[in-house]
Amino acid sequence: MPGFEMIGDEELREVQDVFNHGGILFRHGFDGLRSGCYKVRDFEEAFAKSLGVPKALAVTSGTAAIRVALGALGIGPGDEVITQSFTFVATVEGIIESRATPVCAEIDATLNISVTDVERRITPRTKAVIAVHMLGTPANLPALTDLCRKHNLALIEDTAWGCGGSLDGRALGSWGAVGTFSFDFAKTMTTGEGGMVVFSDEATYRRAAAWHDHGHENNPTVPRWEDTRSGSGFNYRMMELQAAVGLAQLRKLPSVVAAQRENRHAIWQSICRIPGIEARGVLPNSFETADALVFMVRDAKVARECRKSLLAHGLATKILPEAYTWHFAGTWSHMPELVAAHGGDLEHAFPESHALLSRAVSLPITVKMASEVPERMKAALQAVLD
Ligand SMILES: Cc1ncc(COP(=O)(O)O)c(C=O)c1O
Repeated sequence: MPGFEMIGDEELREVQDVFNHGGILFRHGFDGLRSGCYKVRDFEEAFAKSLGVPKALAVTSGTAAIRVALGALGIGPGDEVITQSFTFVATVEGIIESRATPVCAEIDATLNISVTDVERRITPRTKAVIAVHMLGTPANLPALTDLCRKHNLALIEDTAWGCGGSLDGRALGSWGAVGTFSFDFAKTMTTGEGGMVVFSDEATYRRAAAWHDHGHENNPTVPRWEDTRSGSGFNYRMMELQAAVGLAQLRKLPSVVAAQRENRHAIWQSICRIPGIEARGVLPNSFETADALVFMVRDAKVARECRKSLLAHGLATKILPEAYTWHFAGTWSHMPELVAAHGGDLEHAFPESHALLSRAVSLPITVKMASEVPERMKAALQAVLD
């Protein structure tokens, strides 16, 4: 959540630096005018290093990152991609834009993809699995890695919410063949709009780099207008000012995540003994980004009453329960591709996910939290649950 809370002089200085070096806003070329200032390039290198992966590619959004990942992996018409029923619409939009078939799986008690249900939904046409670390809590990556290996599927991590998190000491986004990130304005680090794709191998990176840039291979032996190409592509290039902001935000990421974790812990300590609050499942050795604090209550009616009470106390919820329909595939009847993939009946396609999500409440976590917030949250929830 708090990227936008932390924007300040550091970001401004990075942007100013672009203008001090000729104001070149395009990531490529103009070498004589920019005196060595390449912010997108620097941002990609710094991001890859922070995750411990060989390569990263900056793009225009987290949605574009998913589209580029699928393009680079050669996934298209006739292929099926399995993701989870609890995610933002963007994950499924990326699959539909690739002209592949989106299939959603149930979630488990972690509110992330159910590995058992993924296995049930694998067909000979399945090519990839997209696991989403929803609201900053790691998905079951060891089990997914094994499953994908067994069935020869590409594992993609939609790490839009998981930037700065890890599992078993390994960064989220770096487990799969490809990891995607969003830097939109609501994310832990932000560039306003923007995203990143990270790769475990050079060949997939090279295909992605060309594909996100109209097929340009950036062949160093020829000028850009004579550049070589091996296939079609599109334009999802990030521009220099976004990357300048991203460089400053990336440096702040560890302290932002640490503050979120501390603040979430304070809130949890304050509310965890209220009767009727049930914790979200978390895998051992999870290092959560603590983007939100999610818990379950008795039913959907109580979840809505919690939100109402929080609002009345000058507080809020985040996504659940108020934005349920934007984040639960069982309600996405506006996506004919998804409806068709689930036999024409989305409403009854994910009973286990519905049972969990409809009674979930998610509290926003900020970095600059006033010290009395945990007590106020407790009072707001006690008014409903005690
Ligand atoms: C899980 C998930 N994936 C992808 C995206 C898309 O990111 P963007 O808004 O940068 O396109 C979002 C955005 O909220 C998201 O929550």
